[in-house]
Amino acid sequence: MDMVLLERNIGVYLMTRGRRKIAVIGAGNVGATCAFVLAQMKLADIVMLDIFEGFAKGKALDMSQNSNVLNYDGTITGTSKYSDISGSDVVVVTSGFPRKPGMTREDLISKNAEIVTQVGEGIREHAPESTIIMVTNPLDLMTYHMQKVTGFPTNRVIGQAGVLDSARMAHFIALELDCAEEDVSPMVLGGHGDTMVPLPRYTTVGGIPITQLMSEERIREISERTAGGGGEIVKLLERGSAFYAPGSAAAIMAEAVINDRRRVIPASCHLTGQYGLDDVYIGVPTIIGANGVEKIFELDLTESELESLQGSANFYKSQLSELLGY
Ligand code: LAC
Repeated sequence: MDMVLLERNIGVYLMTRGRRKIAVIGAGNVGATCAFVLAQMKLADIVMLDIFEGFAKGKALDMSQNSNVLNYDGTITGTSKYSDISGSDVVVVTSGFPRKPGMTREDLISKNAEIVTQVGEGIREHAPESTIIMVTNPLDLMTYHMQKVTGFPTNRVIGQAGVLDSARMAHFIALELDCAEEDVSPMVLGGHGDTMVPLPRYTTVGGIPITQLMSEERIREISERTAGGGGEIVKLLERGSAFYAPGSAAAIMAEAVINDRRRVIPASCHLTGQYGLDDVYIGVPTIIGANGVEKIFELDLTESELESLQGSANFYKSQLSELLGY
């Protein structure tokens, strides 16, 4: 990124709109990575909140002491009090337990639902005008739960999954073709779990559909590796799950909202009839801007692609009623 241009942009926003604020709930690996990336983007003041106050304060101080080296603008503070998130434009929620080897994201549901309830009540009370970016797993279910707890309009509660899952697919494609990562435009829809739906037909490299660049078999292998992308890392780490890519993906979404970028990215959002699905959060292509979800695109899917997307959504719908009582 051109740092001079970036600084000028920040200067313009400070002059025209005043200081803005992003809260990151949960100062664990994902939350801290998200805050660290956000600080380097010079978007806003950042507050990290964690139930372990010292943990949030310590990480915030560590990052603050990096301000001179990396030339951040804005403050980074740590807290355990929800009143400190008041006035936040965007709240990124990362709190919750990560997976251990052998676990699915859905195994985390009861523990993390309780945490999301508490966090949601804090946000509802202290940052009622904010847009929420959810990262806590199981992602699509926790995003639905957060919307219910806060009662926020559905466009202001969004789940981060598609940016991460698509980035994983892009990486595997770039490795395969030995090409620049940024020239890969991937598309992964569906739930953030084993049922996610990589869409090779809508994935291009420099505008060329990957179906023209690789064999069907390689595409299938890459799609499978993408769907298991998080699990591959959980297995390697043995304690905890991925955080660099998930934290950065959440930061990209926060930036899309706070700078009204109108980015075209897949995100978990509330469907009301699109793709034949109703009252469920699932990953679909969207425009993300100042109002959160500005638009949902309905792609022309083949029968089997639509079946996969609906299968993924229906799996989460049944989990919502069976495990969360919705
Ligand atoms: C992953 C976890 C964070 O996909 O959901 O790595």
